[in-house]
Amino acid sequence: MSTPHNAADKGEIAERILLPGDPLRAKFIAENFLENARQYSSVRNILGFTGTYRGVPVSVQGTGMGIPSIAIYVHELIREYGVKKLIRVGTCGAMHNDIQLRDIVIAQAASTDSSLIRNIFGPSINFAPIADFDLLSKTVEQAKAKGLSFKVGNIISVDRFYDDDIDNDRLCKYGILAVEMETAALYTLAAQFHVQAMALFTASDHLLKGESCSAEERQTSFREMISVALDTIIQD
Ligand code: HPA
Repeated sequence: MSTPHNAADKGEIAERILLPGDPLRAKFIAENFLENARQYSSVRNILGFTGTYRGVPVSVQGTGMGIPSIAIYVHELIREYGVKKLIRVGTCGAMHNDIQLRDIVIAQAASTDSSLIRNIFGPSINFAPIADFDLLSKTVEQAKAKGLSFKVGNIISVDRFYDDDIDNDRLCKYGILAVEMETAALYTLAAQFHVQAMALFTASDHLLKGESCSAEERQTSFREMISVALDTIIQD
């Protein structure tokens, strides 16, 4: 069995999966963190791998950028392949003065300017896409145990990376910590299909301070985030 977007056979994808946006990050995670990793798909260059981490089967797959792209992959992972725990590991633009570049942002909830929620619920309900509480609390425990600098709260998943019209001041005023482009879809699909999802990011750029990470800084903070995500996802 395969889907139009995934060459994996049933059973080739683990119930626990990490989801970076960038397929090459999926390859990096498979090669540097998993044991006996085997590639199951490269359709559209969206690479997916399954291996083990501390003896537990774990997969890792790219999602591409933006809500329509992640929604395709996540829908199929849950419905066709039976994935039960999904952790997005991404980057974000920080929108809060207490967040430094390279800090970890843990998305308790994901606001969005996408039409996704409206298309499902109609104009009168503003559904709130939220993280699975169990995965969220375990992620926080892991980040604390590793002594990492992190912040937990609401983020926004936007449809436009280049958006001159976005009102950052208002978003900040209401406690939005960061901007990225996928999590609202992940949390909404997890709610629809009753599975567990969580997202965490490293702050790769800072919208208020106008700073961004060097390539090397990105790599180090990315490694820290991956170890938090893997030590969380293998727990029962
Ligand atoms: N905007 C949207 N998505 C992002 C950003 C940003 O500034 N940085 C990392 N992902």
